[in-house]
Amino acid sequence: KAISLIGVPTDIGAGHRGASMGPEALRVANLAARLTRRGLDVVDRGNLQGPLNPWQPPVNGYRHLPEVVAWNQAVHEAIYAELADGRLPIMLGGDHCLAIGSISAVARHCRDTGKTLRVLWLDAHADFNTAEATPSGNIHGMPVACLCGNGPQELISMGGHVPATTADVFRQIGIRSVDEGEKRLVRESQVSIFDMRHIDEVGMKRTMEEALSGIDENTHLHVSFDVDFLDPTIAPGVGTTVRGGPNYREAQLCMEMIADSGRVGSLDIVELNPAFDKKNQTARLAVDLVESLFGKSTLIR
Ligand code: ARG
Ligand code: MN
Ligand code: MN
Ligand code: MN
Repeated sequence: KAISLIGVPTDIGAGHRGASMGPEALRVANLAARLTRRGLDVVDRGNLQGPLNPWQPPVNGYRHLPEVVAWNQAVHEAIYAELADGRLPIMLGGDHCLAIGSISAVARHCRDTGKTLRVLWLDAHADFNTAEATPSGNIHGMPVACLCGNGPQELISMGGHVPATTADVFRQIGIRSVDEGEKRLVRESQVSIFDMRHIDEVGMKRTMEEALSGIDENTHLHVSFDVDFLDPTIAPGVGTTVRGGPNYREAQLCMEMIADSGRVGSLDIVELNPAFDKKNQTARLAVDLVESLFGKSTLIR
């Protein structure tokens, strides 16, 4: 399978500066060479461009909405073009607001090709906020709501189809921080959430079996990997750490089981923030995990 890396160097939707350095940190951690070593054909397309971060307070509940729209339009076009070309795009974020552009493009590609979309949302957060519910106005807390049609017109109509996709395609894994108003929105939606309590109770193995159940040869699996999914003791290089996340072995098993499904068609790696990291350890961990997602196994078989 041919892979395209697409850097999106912005922190436009985040509450801390620095996720704009994520793409370069992943390159420095040797992402391309590690995937090439796995026998994959990898091309780095370089970085997309967009507006600088003006670092302004929210306007009508949204921070930097026009800039978020501009970046997501660029992401949508780039990801859609790679998929139409039969390639597997990996978006190197950038903050998680960019998943509006990437997943709307994947959903559009699925409509074109008659594929069934399944999104695995690996995150400490549900990212289901709206202008009314958000405590921050940061749009990286809103992409899932926007993709399901709940958000500002410019973001919900990305790719020309409203809603871009529906709540039932999402499986959220690792969730442990949901804002008060956001909880009600999540409950009223059809998003299935495998939160940390669920992982504690049944284990990562059963959680992933559940999250992957029902997929078949016609499924396009999109993985949206927010690096704050991981426990902050192993992954400090993110802006919004929440304690009590998956440990190294749980995260590896999660990635290995996704690889075993054989259905990964696109990937986001988002929220990596080198300004909070030490010796690029979080980027190196993310690259390790992505290798597992593409089939690297510790087993001899
Ligand atoms: N729920 C919080 C907010 O809306 C935090 C969101 C964090 N999202 C993320 N992609 N890291 O501000
Ligand atoms: Mn395709
Ligand atoms: Mn997120
Ligand atoms: Mn998060």
